[in-house]
Amino acid sequence: MLTQTSAQTPAAGSRRFPDGFVWGAATAAYQIEGAVGEAGRGRSIWDTFSHLPGRVRDGDTGDVATDHYHRTAEDIAIMAELGLGAYRFSVSWPRILPTGSGAVNRAGLDFYTRLVDDLLAASITPLVTLYHWDLPEALQQTGGWANRDTAARFAEYAEVVGAALGDRVATITTLNEPWCSAFLGHAAGVHAPGLRDDATALAAAHHLNLAHGLGVAALRAVLPATGRVSLTLNLAQVRGASEADRDAVRHVDGIANRIFLDPVLRGSYPADVIDDLRHITDWSFIQDGDLTAISAPIDALGINYYSPTLVTSATPDIVAGATDAWVNDPQSAPGPSRFPGTDRAYAVPQDGPYTAMHWRIEPDSLTDLLVRVHRDYPGVQLMITENGAAFDDAVSPDGEVHDRDRIDYIAAHLAAVHGAIQAGADVRGYFVWTLLDNFEWAWGYSKRFGLVHVDFATLQRRLKDSARWYRDVIAANGLPTGA
Ligand code: FCB
Repeated sequence: MLTQTSAQTPAAGSRRFPDGFVWGAATAAYQIEGAVGEAGRGRSIWDTFSHLPGRVRDGDTGDVATDHYHRTAEDIAIMAELGLGAYRFSVSWPRILPTGSGAVNRAGLDFYTRLVDDLLAASITPLVTLYHWDLPEALQQTGGWANRDTAARFAEYAEVVGAALGDRVATITTLNEPWCSAFLGHAAGVHAPGLRDDATALAAAHHLNLAHGLGVAALRAVLPATGRVSLTLNLAQVRGASEADRDAVRHVDGIANRIFLDPVLRGSYPADVIDDLRHITDWSFIQDGDLTAISAPIDALGINYYSPTLVTSATPDIVAGATDAWVNDPQSAPGPSRFPGTDRAYAVPQDGPYTAMHWRIEPDSLTDLLVRVHRDYPGVQLMITENGAAFDDAVSPDGEVHDRDRIDYIAAHLAAVHGAIQAGADVRGYFVWTLLDNFEWAWGYSKRFGLVHVDFATLQRRLKDSARWYRDVIAANGLPTGA
């Protein structure tokens, strides 16, 4: 008789995943939906930002994107063809609450209700992310994430979506990558709302953490007892260029990772991060009771991972040759840091191989990251909620997209996840970023991450080789021999 354990643990050497492992793909509302002016949707900060001259490559916007709003049936049919077990999408806050709070736009809620029902009818488990960066513009007008009140408005929105969808979705995720919202949006200024003020970015980081905590409480109040709540972070796997760079690693790890992980999973901000950043802020925006709210238990932690980070201490001789002091910044250019507090460390250019984002490909660092999170923050289930790669895909004369490089990237990272599971990390699922080529934020339509090619002139969808390969991985619950 098979024991529970032997049925769930992959045998050493095999590339099969544990029974029940969740195979999915992920998207985000502004990147795919289009239909920005339809059915009562309000404006978001990305509508505003993408229409500002010079903010997005080639002047691209998400006005049409992949037109998923009108093509959900076709896109769900593609998901079914791939055999996806789950689909992670985000809800557009301004479709639900056009001015961020107050009156609910029924048509917006209906769109997501239908989407969830149609996914369930296709035997695909829906995972909902509440905030993937499209803050209602009306809330930006009252200060956005720099304003503490936005966290309370987020909880109001979480309650509306939780009450409408919570009985049918597997997991509701509060935020996607608050690091990006806080620091790319308010310090580097390369994402909406495009601000460049370090103190504001740190206040935004805390208010995002608070929004998560208040959102968890609001969701728990309306979800059934089986409802699951999570948070997705883009964690950086930070290493030093040499042994002497230990303090640089600690410093960047604190600002990239622990400033989010610790309040949520330990109920406190790391003392070294508080100290490191005192020259920027006095942290007076942290109020009594905030950390209790922020550390409400979650059922899973989502991790988005693409590429490792190499740092060194900021001494004058290396500053001259170093790139920006950041962690995975796709827009990084030589020059002083545009990230709060990272002036004590500099990012070291890394060797290839690279993806089309110039992000180094290094799957082993994903194993290291997962094992570290499991060790330092035990007891929380983990999910890879995004992993994937942009490459310069082309449609071949045979009409196909032969993206062997993407297959290799995903296969190697799946092997890395498998390795982490064997080392004890409790990883329950993997979502490819992304289902369809889409609006890649400041890069517009110039970077293709999809399993499915989109012709942005005709909006025609075409399965890439990687989509068919991923279908076989899902069917086998693991990597084919030799992959
Ligand atoms: C992540 C975002 C996602 C996508 C990928 C490439 O940071 O969550 O929307 O842009 O990067």
